[in-house]
Amino acid sequence: MASKQMVHMNHGQGETSYAHNSSFQSAEQNRMKPLIEAAIVELCSNTTTMSHGKMVIADLGCSCGPNAVALVSIALEATHSHFLWLRQPPPEVSVLLNDLPYNDFNAVVKSLVAVRQIGEPLVVTGAVPGSFNERLFLSASVHLFCSSNSLYWLSKAPEDLRINQIPAYDIDENARRERLPVVAGAYAQQFRKDFTLFLQLRAKELVPEGRMVVSLQGRRSDEPVTESSLIWGTAAQILGTMASEV
Ligand SMILES: C[S@@+](CC[C@H](N)C(=O)[O-])C[C@H]1O[C@@H](n2cnc3c(N)ncnc32)[C@H](O)[C@@H]1O
Repeated sequence: MASKQMVHMNHGQGETSYAHNSSFQSAEQNRMKPLIEAAIVELCSNTTTMSHGKMVIADLGCSCGPNAVALVSIALEATHSHFLWLRQPPPEVSVLLNDLPYNDFNAVVKSLVAVRQIGEPLVVTGAVPGSFNERLFLSASVHLFCSSNSLYWLSKAPEDLRINQIPAYDIDENARRERLPVVAGAYAQQFRKDFTLFLQLRAKELVPEGRMVVSLQGRRSDEPVTESSLIWGTAAQILGTMASEV
């Protein structure tokens, strides 16, 4: 519970803010554009899903800064273009942004002002603080879930490692190599648990035949630090040292 309340990306607009240090994540969001557009076309072509002329789009783990509204903006634009092409009135859309409660929601709300449209086509907006590892939305109420660069955040460190005080990245190289299978296995298992729960929860919240477009980073090799990702080794060492001094 404590980590749920405290962990967040850097607030505000300063030099070290997430808003100014998230171009890597933004590139990932751009790669999702065609997938979101395809999902919108499928949704809008489904007369059952769209029968009430209303649509709910949600981003999970939105953070703050330009990336917070990037995916929902792609979805909105695709929706409006599709109905313009059909020469039909677009649906009323509700855009909801989720993150953990200590996220910079002041900044998120200001970003949402640019997304909101009070005329035709109507777009209403809202923030949904809470964990995506819990229920966030009403049953069968969301048409499209998007999420980028967020779903690999685990709900907690693996219990076995915590009890045995085994760090994720031991500074001692020999200990690290020896424990690698145990550590990697424990994190993989925790991810499996979290992601399975995540899918079960979203399945309840999606409308029938709703869509979900998510992206998360992974690696092909079991080796935590490969030549192309040496930076993670350095970052892990720094974080490990900081954590051992708490
Ligand atoms: C690296 S940021 C990604 C932000 C944005 N989606 C992007 O692509 O730039 C990860 C975000 O996920 C949020 N997050 C992590 N665990 C979460 C959870 N259980 N529920 C909701 N948000 C979570 C974090 O607070 C953080 O803002």
